[in-house]
Amino acid sequence: MSERTQVGIVGAGPAGLLLSHLLHREGIESIVFDNRSREHVQQRLRAGVLEQGTVDLLAEVGLGERMRRLGMPQTSLDFRYAQASHRIDFAQEIGRTVMVYPQHEVVHDLIEARLAAGGDLRFDTPVTAIRDLEGPSPTILAGPEGRPVRCDFIAGCDGFHGICRDAIPASVMKAYDRVYPFGWLGILAEVPPAAPDVTWGCHETGFAMLSFRSPTRSRLYLQCEPDDDPDNWSDDRIWSALHERLDVPGMPPLIEGPIVQKGVTAMRSFQVEPLRHGALFLAGDAAHIVPPTGAKGLNSAVADIRVLGRALAAYYRQGSTRLLDSYSETCLRRMWLVHRFSAGLCTMVHSFPGQSDFARRLQRADLDYMTGSEPGRRAFSENFTGLPIEA
Ligand code: FAD
Ligand code: DHB
Repeated sequence: MSERTQVGIVGAGPAGLLLSHLLHREGIESIVFDNRSREHVQQRLRAGVLEQGTVDLLAEVGLGERMRRLGMPQTSLDFRYAQASHRIDFAQEIGRTVMVYPQHEVVHDLIEARLAAGGDLRFDTPVTAIRDLEGPSPTILAGPEGRPVRCDFIAGCDGFHGICRDAIPASVMKAYDRVYPFGWLGILAEVPPAAPDVTWGCHETGFAMLSFRSPTRSRLYLQCEPDDDPDNWSDDRIWSALHERLDVPGMPPLIEGPIVQKGVTAMRSFQVEPLRHGALFLAGDAAHIVPPTGAKGLNSAVADIRVLGRALAAYYRQGSTRLLDSYSETCLRRMWLVHRFSAGLCTMVHSFPGQSDFARRLQRADLDYMTGSEPGRRAFSENFTGLPIEA
C-alpha cells in the first residue's frame, strides 16, 4: 500500500516550508521531504534581505512575531563609489522599506510553526524520483527504499541542485543561463555593523558589501574569483580589501573583528520555462537563480509560493484550475523583471576581467543616473523593496 497526500513537497527550504504552511492554513494536507537534516537546513547561512511584500506576507500568515523582534528594518542603501557616499532612501522615495532578517531565521520560524501544527516534515529523506506527472497517480519515491507517496500535485521546491526540474522533458523545457566571471566571498564577523545602512562599495578592484545579521554581527561580501578558495583569503587580506572598497572620506571606517565564517558563492542568472509540467510545479531556486546583487533569491521563492498557494487553494475550495493553469505565466512575467534588475545591478557594480575604460565609465554613468536622478532612485527603490507579486 502506498501512502497518499494532497500535495507532495520536495525540499524544506523557504519555498517548500512556506507552501506547506500556506496550504495548512487552507486545510490542505502536505508532506515535505528533505534530504538534509533539520539542523543543517535550519543553520544554513544564506540570504538576508526581505522585501516589504515578503515581510507583509510572513506577518499576515502568523510568522511575524520573531521577525518584528529580531529583524532590522532598513529605509535606505548606501552606494559608495568615487570616494563618496550616495544614499538612496527608499522610504523617502516611494514610502516602502525592507527588513534585514536572515533566511535561517525565516526557516526556523516556518519549521516551528509547521511542527506546532502537527505538520509532516521528513528530514534526512531524499526524494529519488517523481513519476506519472501526466497520468492518474503522480508519485514521489522517497527515502532509501524509494517508498511511493501518491499525490494530487507535486511541488518541486528542491533548489538548484534538486531532481524535480529534470523530470520535465527537454522537448518542452527551455533553460536560459548566464554565468558571471566572478563570485562572492561571504564573511560573517563578530563585530557591530559600522554603518546604519546596508552599504555597497563599487570599486575598480571589485565589489564589496556591508550588511548585518544582528546588532553585534556583520555579514560582509567581497568580489572574488568564481572558484576561489576561502583559504586564499587571510583575515588581513579580507579586512584590507574591505577597507579599500568600502571606506570613503567623511564616513566612519569599517570596524574590524573576529571572522567566524567564510565561504564562496559562484554567480549566475538561470531560468527555466515553463514552471509546470502536468502535476509538477517548480518554485524558487529549482526554477531560477539570480546573482545575489539585489537580494532576490529568497524573495523570488516567496513570490512563487504565494501564487502557487493561492492557485492550490482555489482548486481545492472551488474546483477551479484557472490559477494553476496560469501559474507559470504569472510567475515568469514578474521573474523576468527580477532577472532584469538583478543582472543589471550585477553588471553595474562589479569589476569585470579585461574590462575596457569605456565600459568602466559606462558603469559610473549608470551609478550616477541611479543615485543622482529622481527616476533612477525611484526605479531602484521599487525594484529593491519588491515589485508587486501579482498584477
Ligand atoms: P533551497 O533553500 O535551496 O531549498 C531546497 C531544499 O531542497 C534544500 O533544503 C535541499 O536540501 C532540498 N533538496 C534538494 N534535493 C532534494 C531531494 N532530491 N530530495 C529532498 N530534498 C532535496 N540569496 C540572496 O538573496 N542573498 C544571498 O546572500 C544569498 N546567498 C546564498 C548563498 C548560497 C551558498 C546559496 C546556495 C544561495 C544563496 N542565496 C542568496 C539564494 C537564496 O538563499 C535562495 O534563493 C533560497 O534559499 C531559495 O529557497 P528554495 O526553498 O527555493 O531553495
Ligand atoms: C545581502 C544583502 C544585500 O543587500 C544583497 O544584495 C545580498 C545579500 C545580505 O545581507 O546577505
